Amino acid sequence: MTWEERGVQSSTKWLSASERPAPKHVVLVDDRLTADRAIGFASQGTAMLWQGDIHGAKQILSAIGRRLTRQGAKTGKRGAAPATAAEQFYRIRQMHAQRSRVLSLILIPLELQGGVVSIPLPRAPEVDAAIRFAYGDLGLGEQDRAVVSLQELVGVLSAHQWYVNGVDVPSLGVRIHPHYGTFMPTRHEYVDLVASAPLPAHDLAFDIGTGTGVFSAVLAKRGIRRVIGTDLQKRAVDCATENFELLGIADVAEARICDIFPEGKASLIVCNPPWLPGSAATSLDAAIYDPGSQMLLSYPAGLPSHLSEGARVGLSSPTSQNSSGCGRGRCCLTRLPAPGSM
Ligand SMILES: C[S@@+](CC[C@H](N)C(=O)[O-])C[C@H]1O[C@@H](n2cnc3c(N)ncnc32)[C@H](O)[C@@H]1O
Repeated sequence: MTWEERGVQSSTKWLSASERPAPKHVVLVDDRLTADRAIGFASQGTAMLWQGDIHGAKQILSAIGRRLTRQGAKTGKRGAAPATAAEQFYRIRQMHAQRSRVLSLILIPLELQGGVVSIPLPRAPEVDAAIRFAYGDLGLGEQDRAVVSLQELVGVLSAHQWYVNGVDVPSLGVRIHPHYGTFMPTRHEYVDLVASAPLPAHDLAFDIGTGTGVFSAVLAKRGIRRVIGTDLQKRAVDCATENFELLGIADVAEARICDIFPEGKASLIVCNPPWLPGSAATSLDAAIYDPGSQMLLSYPAGLPSHLSEGARVGLSSPTSQNSSGCGRGRCCLTRLPAPGSM
């Protein structure tokens, strides 16, 4: 990222796990910045590199968030009511994308000193472990600087806590450790379903879109002799692999990078697919967005050639993710017609 500071060109490394492009225009700001002025800079595409106390930066981020919420509410009231659910969905997505773009323009400096990554601002928290967790090897030399969006940094710090503490999965009786950007099993109903549904056989299961590997772990615990989890995202496959090792099931469960199905046939296939139609605004949202409903359509279409005789297939629907109670939602394990008859 390059910018001009009192007539001098400065450049620094730009960090973005969500693959946002580096801003082209940057101004230096501190505690004197107001939410209105920040929104003004953001509307011109100008990012604001924070120089003051870190708590001031967090406060301005919240103030901008509140201001945008009020603006969004006013716009919603003034405009004519959208005619269809699809239009409402589109409008809400646009509002969220705009809000996220504005908030992403408050930037925080990072520097490497004595092998430790820190924020060179007053009252900054320790960030070294969390930064390395999310961004890996930064490729910084001693005293090199980098810049990250405060909004993303807040997400990184909380994701790191989830990783360190783990997410409790009651039906497994253990904790699963989600990597940064991997879908977390914070709801239990759909996992409980896989933990309690009758199993047709015990030889081989596929866990499509494995994420943290939670379904594979449940199936391994239930005595399935071999489970193959697949995911398009490398970070999900790395995460599932680490969880299998931590849980001592690496000899039973394996995660592979793969588009939907691995080769071969299984007697049980489970999948909790991304459930929102449309493209993800950032790569971190890819676990929940399914552009063109590609996965929702390809999954059932590919089942006949990947199921063995008398197999069962599971799909957890959006209802199960958003309503309470899988029994009343639409999670199901279903016996499909024999392969070839679909
Ligand atoms: C809603 S998450 C479910 C994760 C995990 N199974 C769970 O229930 O916690 C959907 C997962 O599907 C993965 N995914 C999306 N498209 C895929 C594809 N074409 N092939 C394999 N996995 C895919 C995403 O990366 C994401 O990890």
